[in-house]
Amino acid sequence: MDKNFFITTPIYYPSAKPHMGHAYSSIIADFFARFKKIDGFKVCFLTGTDEHGLKIQRAAEKKGMETQKFCDELSKTFRDLSQTLNLSNTDFIRTTEDRHKKSVQNLWNELQKNNEIYLSKYSGWYSVSDEAFYSDSEIEEINGKKVSKISKSAVEWVDEESFFFRLSKWEKQLLKYYEENPDFIKPISRKNEVVSFVKSGLKDLSVSRKSFSWGIPVPKNKDHVIYVWLDALTNYISALNYPNINDDKYKRFWPATIHLIGKDILRFHAIYWPAFLLAAKIPLPKRIYGHGWILSGEEKMSKSKGNILDPIEIIQEYGLDPLRYYLIKEVSFGNDGNISKEKLEDCINSDLANNFGNLCQRVTAFAMKNCDGKIPDNIKFLEDDLKILDKFKSNINQIRKKIDDQDINFYIDFIVNTLFETNKYFNDQEPWNKKSDTSRLNTIVYTTLEIVRKICYMLYPIIPQSSINALKIFGINENEIEFSSLENHLYLRENSKIKKIDILFKKVEK
Ligand code: MSP
Repeated sequence: MDKNFFITTPIYYPSAKPHMGHAYSSIIADFFARFKKIDGFKVCFLTGTDEHGLKIQRAAEKKGMETQKFCDELSKTFRDLSQTLNLSNTDFIRTTEDRHKKSVQNLWNELQKNNEIYLSKYSGWYSVSDEAFYSDSEIEEINGKKVSKISKSAVEWVDEESFFFRLSKWEKQLLKYYEENPDFIKPISRKNEVVSFVKSGLKDLSVSRKSFSWGIPVPKNKDHVIYVWLDALTNYISALNYPNINDDKYKRFWPATIHLIGKDILRFHAIYWPAFLLAAKIPLPKRIYGHGWILSGEEKMSKSKGNILDPIEIIQEYGLDPLRYYLIKEVSFGNDGNISKEKLEDCINSDLANNFGNLCQRVTAFAMKNCDGKIPDNIKFLEDDLKILDKFKSNINQIRKKIDDQDINFYIDFIVNTLFETNKYFNDQEPWNKKSDTSRLNTIVYTTLEIVRKICYMLYPIIPQSSINALKIFGINENEIEFSSLENHLYLRENSKIKKIDILFKKVEK
């Protein structure tokens, strides 16, 4: 059977330059995509920009720019960021593309055909910043201004003709679905929030706007544009060539394995999106994972709060892989995480430069001098060697399972602990005192090099470029990295040449 894996990031609003929160969603998605790739899966990894709606229209107006031109410019900064972050995305979708417009209008027609949409009038609150409708009970007043209790963003009163989606009709079925598919929404705390929200009663959802025009027109009613969330969510199937459901890509990758999103947009993904799909008789994605926020100080980063940490600046100062490593390791996945330069520097010095970089340098320098610059031969493993090598073999399926459970903490702890144990192993075995026993010296060096190889494979999804750089020791290329080879203790070919490599991570002076 083909092993397929489809992961998506949220599509980002190009209303301002990308910030660390966006980089975070993308880097985590890249981690999973790369892992699955080296584990033999066909991977579709989708990201992109969400370009319609009042928020974007107003941002363009503020800059005095034509909206499409504004989107072209800002969308490009997100596309460039994908490269800067070394993402392995296989597609980048823009909601202003024709393939997407066609897909959204088709979904609309399906919903209309199934009698899921009707024309009425919306009178209520709307937040342009969240592009969300809020009920009276979700609104509070702060400093004389009405805001959403949840996001604290300003709301305005809307009174206009609108098409409605029969969301209320799907309440019971959604609850049944959550119950029968306990892993549909993760982490569990977020699932509970969604369930209690749905249990409190769903109202029909306004799915078109009439008072502005920056959006996809409602088929056969050009006075309305389609609500930006119905438009945006559909990107996940547009990229697979929906409505052509016989298309290879669609057949292979839908339903998505995982929609990775921030917790603030859970309602849209875990309630509206499945309801639209149920109503259009399209299978539901397998998992929605709502990660936490990257906090700056104690607050979520946002343009309006002016507390944005710029990923590009951090990368220029410290390099990309340290940032990737830091975000993946130090932000406990699923929870909010506070990031600081100081903690990033600690991470570089202790984990990357000391534990990993130093081990690579030490063992290669030793092998250069004492093993003729080759992978040693005449290997006879003893218990101490096998103990550490077997760790990989005996955990390989456990690691796979943890990845499927999005347990990144397990994965990274495994690496950090193993690095620590390997450094200790090399010290304790004292190969420099074994010069009279070549077989033992060779076996210690071989074992350490094998572990370095295995760790580089495991680090590849986290710090791809540094892993590739380190694998040059063995002349192993990126496309040769296979996770399943972690089971093999004798992967490195005896007598093949090893190469000295440049310093992987420079320590930061503090
Ligand atoms: N356009 C919508 C998503 C549509 S998906 C069909 C959107 N865009 S966004 O640009 O505002 O946010 C995109 C993602 O970035 C969201 O998942 C959001 O949670 C995430 N982040 C924005 N700020 C963040 C932090 N400070 N920390 C972590 N992620 C945050 O919403």
